[in-house]
Amino acid sequence: VSRPFEAGERILLFDAKGRRYLVQLAEGGEFHTHSGPVRHDDLLGREEGLLVRSTRGARYTAVRPTLAEVVLKMPRGAQVIYPKDLGPILILADVFPGARVFESGLGSGAMSMALLRAGADVVGYELRPDFAARARNNVAAFLGATALEHYHVDVRDAYDGIAETGFDRMILDLPEPWRLIKAAEGALRPGGILVSYLPTIGQVSTLRDTLDRSAFGLAETIEVLQRSWHVEGQSVRPDHRMVAHTGFLTSARLLGAADDPKA
Ligand SMILES: C[S@@+](CC[C@H](N)C(=O)[O-])C[C@H]1O[C@@H](n2cnc3c(N)ncnc32)[C@H](O)[C@@H]1O
Repeated sequence: VSRPFEAGERILLFDAKGRRYLVQLAEGGEFHTHSGPVRHDDLLGREEGLLVRSTRGARYTAVRPTLAEVVLKMPRGAQVIYPKDLGPILILADVFPGARVFESGLGSGAMSMALLRAGADVVGYELRPDFAARARNNVAAFLGATALEHYHVDVRDAYDGIAETGFDRMILDLPEPWRLIKAAEGALRPGGILVSYLPTIGQVSTLRDTLDRSAFGLAETIEVLQRSWHVEGQSVRPDHRMVAHTGFLTSARLLGAADDPKA
């Protein structure tokens, strides 16, 4: 759906070298570069793909950023889950439009944005009020204020328990998710899926031990490696650098329905 750029929205400017800049448009605003400012008024009311010049002639192309671009450029406090893991988490958790999802912690809201964009209704617990506010701001800036109708943020300690029940999915980015497994058994519906993101394998081991002693089954742990390639004429090879490690993804399914005596 094509629509012109409006004041207040965040757009992406990229230069001839592919460097990207996230810019919030304002009437009369300026984006400052080493070759003079780009005037926001040259962008407002225009369509995506527009080429603009700074006052001293540098060229920038303007588009709306993708979710992945916003996540890598938006204001953050806590470490975000990278786009390479956000996509697989949505599939591992089998998130669907209308799914009731419990999420904790929220950090800068990257995972929340991916969940809401996939059509989920999210209840999020976050310990720090400043992070909770940032997550809400980032969600509203990217998805619009109406997305907040599906984003119910509580500032509270998730380890103290989960107040609601009947969740379809649970996404945890917490240092000690095993402390929440007992509460998860009560908060998820049978057949519900839990996905936990953890940076170190010792944490994964503790989580898997706890899952083994719980009503969860079908536990799996994976990591996602993404290697980009340099493609220029005959020089076609993997890039020299890559993000070699982010985190491990562990998924499990709440079973625990009563035994069928005829089975
Ligand atoms: C790494 S960040 C989450 C990043 C987030 N997944 C994202 O994609 O932007 C971890 C968050 O968990 C929060 N946190 C840590 N312990 C918590 C707890 N017991 N209850 C609720 N939130 C907690 C931290 O304040 C922090 O914001």
